[in-house]
Amino acid sequence: MLGIDVATTGAKVLAIDENGRVASSSFRPYPLQTPRPNWAEQDPEEWWNAVTGCLREVVGKKVRAEEIEAIGLTGQMHGAVVLGRNDEVLRPCILWCDQRTASQCDEIMRKFGRKRFIDLTNNVALPGFTAPKILWIRENEPGIYSKIKKVLLPKDYVRFRLTGEFATEVSDASGTVLFDVKRRRWSDEVLEELQIPREMMPDCFESPFLSGEVSGEAASATGLRKGTPVAGGGGDQAAGAVGNGIVRSGLVSCTIGTSGVVFASCDEPLVDPEARLHSFCHAVPGKWHVMGVMLSAGGSFRWFRDALGGEEVGLGKERGVDPYVILADELAPQAEPGCEGLIFLPYLMGERTPYPNPNAKGVFFGITLRHKKAHLARSVMEGVAYGMRDSLELVKNLGIEIEQVRASGGGGRSPLWRQIQADIYNAEIVTVSVDEGPAFGAALIAGAGAGIFRSVEDACGKAVALATRTKPVQENAKLYEKYYEVYKELYSSLVEEFDKVSRIVLEELESKKVP
Ligand code: XUL
Repeated sequence: MLGIDVATTGAKVLAIDENGRVASSSFRPYPLQTPRPNWAEQDPEEWWNAVTGCLREVVGKKVRAEEIEAIGLTGQMHGAVVLGRNDEVLRPCILWCDQRTASQCDEIMRKFGRKRFIDLTNNVALPGFTAPKILWIRENEPGIYSKIKKVLLPKDYVRFRLTGEFATEVSDASGTVLFDVKRRRWSDEVLEELQIPREMMPDCFESPFLSGEVSGEAASATGLRKGTPVAGGGGDQAAGAVGNGIVRSGLVSCTIGTSGVVFASCDEPLVDPEARLHSFCHAVPGKWHVMGVMLSAGGSFRWFRDALGGEEVGLGKERGVDPYVILADELAPQAEPGCEGLIFLPYLMGERTPYPNPNAKGVFFGITLRHKKAHLARSVMEGVAYGMRDSLELVKNLGIEIEQVRASGGGGRSPLWRQIQADIYNAEIVTVSVDEGPAFGAALIAGAGAGIFRSVEDACGKAVALATRTKPVQENAKLYEKYYEVYKELYSSLVEEFDKVSRIVLEELESKKVP
């Protein structure tokens, strides 16, 4: 089975066998453009080039094309790829982390009223989601809007290039807020009222369903066999959760990638009354999930590496070691838990959960003369874990009993970050043996669709095993509890200043006519 992940930082292709063993994998990075503050865009052609490059490395080398029984797609959610009459891409894709659509979100929520919109979609309109992006294009680029034939999510654009079909699946469609999550189908009511023609959206299937096959043209571009079946797959969070075995109530994952996601599987479509958690369909037929999303989790640590970790990057090159390992597991442990009162707020891209606020900013609070670089590094890791704890609290408030927390991404790989999470959540943290992210889950979903497994749950039972266990240290947990109270208060103390600073920056840019 192949999993293809169209992620934010690059594309990944992974080949696994029916026991979940990885046969081969390949990754190719691509850039992200931020042409204005708060904007984030990518050229879909870059995704396709990266995916075909990865496929050519995997298929025909370590894995023969005839051996591949099914392909599963996954990728960054919510992005809007707009295609014209001749299937051409009309403008760069507006990504999940783009924050330009605050006024379109207000417009949507005003039009429907908060309660009715939550009733219809299980969610509120947030700047990252797809529907407000479509309205933004209609209002700001009417010439482009008038040419749109289809709106696709990122992984579904790659599906289109692979198979020629316009299709999506329920987990990713949920993140458009044009979707009736309870009934697992497009919401005619929302589409109609927003005057978005139904034909603009692709057909939507359950995630394991094999809706298409690799075309002749794609086969020549990639080395795949023409006719290889392609399953729906899943949004990166749902597919990542499958890869972590989060397919029944009680299991929760904490994934620290660029974003930070707390994901809980549920047997019914649960809704947080204030819709601070997203309530989406799971990639498991008949299941749903709730999740809290921080926009800048691993992204905060990457910022730290880029802005202040030059020395460690150099050292990493010399020693052939990932600079993240040096920063997270050599430098940061030199500081004590709690960093002597240094607290980091990880809102470098604004925030989504629990504060849907594009103007929120990052903060180092409580710096004294005693603090060194190790404290800064550790406080970033702790600040991210406090942010994840905010979402875990919301999950608990829904009445979900958390049986086990599974950590993955950067936060699962670093032993210190695992300990920090165990202490801040005051819960045991486990990791699973294959840490390949959403591509692994997408491959399992495809295996379920192709009948290699009886179901997605069966695939997880056969392919997902636990690897490490980290228990909280009670002394640390008690200390973190006190700092967590301060962490929560800091946001409310600063929220007005976040707005003021955003206004000043914008005025300044406008006066200088920065485009
Ligand atoms: C989920 C979300 C991100 C992106 C990129 O709602 O916005 O996780 O899918 O990873």
